[in-house]
Amino acid sequence: MRSLIDITDLNTDELDELIGSALDIIENPKKYAHVCDGLKLATMFFEPSTRTRMSFEAAMYELGGHVISTASADSSSAAKGESVADTAKTVSCYVDIIAMRHPKEGAALVASQNATVPVINAGDGGHSHPTQTLADLLTIYREKGRLSNMTVGLCGDLKFGRTVHSLINALSRYTGIRFVLISPDELKLPSYVKKDVLQKNHIPYVQTDNLEEALPDLDILYMTRVQRERFFNEEDYLRLKDSYILTPDKLTNARADMSILHPLPRVNEISVEIDKDPRACYFKQVLNGKYMRMALILRLLTEAGTL
Ligand code: CP
Repeated sequence: MRSLIDITDLNTDELDELIGSALDIIENPKKYAHVCDGLKLATMFFEPSTRTRMSFEAAMYELGGHVISTASADSSSAAKGESVADTAKTVSCYVDIIAMRHPKEGAALVASQNATVPVINAGDGGHSHPTQTLADLLTIYREKGRLSNMTVGLCGDLKFGRTVHSLINALSRYTGIRFVLISPDELKLPSYVKKDVLQKNHIPYVQTDNLEEALPDLDILYMTRVQRERFFNEEDYLRLKDSYILTPDKLTNARADMSILHPLPRVNEISVEIDKDPRACYFKQVLNGKYMRMALILRLLTEAGTL
């Protein structure tokens, strides 16, 4: 049974096919309006979410399917001590596909090993968030018309930001990608991502703590929130949380066609005045996430023989 736990579960051809499928869904929504008639998705969210849970649910409804949901750990039998494995076996009895978010790294993998339907990782702790990466890739593709030959700046919490790790992994497969890693020293990209992805694949990158100096070179600026929920110490979070705040004056030296992405939710990292700037793509990214989740649901249900 094919599940999606990490972005590395999809090869480059499959990433391109999912983008193609999402573009077809955007162009021809009526063609897809009943393809999942009678099928059910479970959204099992044991950690807060707005975009991921609601976009999965909107995706399934727009495919003609139905949704059942656990929106918090407190409202499920996880609160009584039920294991992820037993929960996955149980929910498989009711639905055709599961999207799961959990605070523990590896929880989605455990669910996929015990479920009898496909499981989609909707975020597992600081590890992975592959469907956010699918949303990011479609956004970059729609804005730039390509996924190659770009300088991509990643700014903020590069240590705990699971979306950053997945995006680096995905973009590193395309030609001509260069990364500028912008973070305070304490929130640098983990060594294992640099070693296993960037250095292994000979991807050029530089590290800096200076956003303004980095801006003029960038085709894409991917801002991230400092991940309060992953800190052990509130004092460290308070000291680092406003390390970068993108304001209109800072964009003076950025390219006119630079695209600004952010997986959201934002706290202070991007001033609301920037929302009006044509370079701001983060709410388009939210919508693109729904289309990519529709494409992914269709693919996994087809491979499972359900469709
Ligand atoms: N980008 C993202 O994962 O947002 P939510 O936490 O609201 O789902």
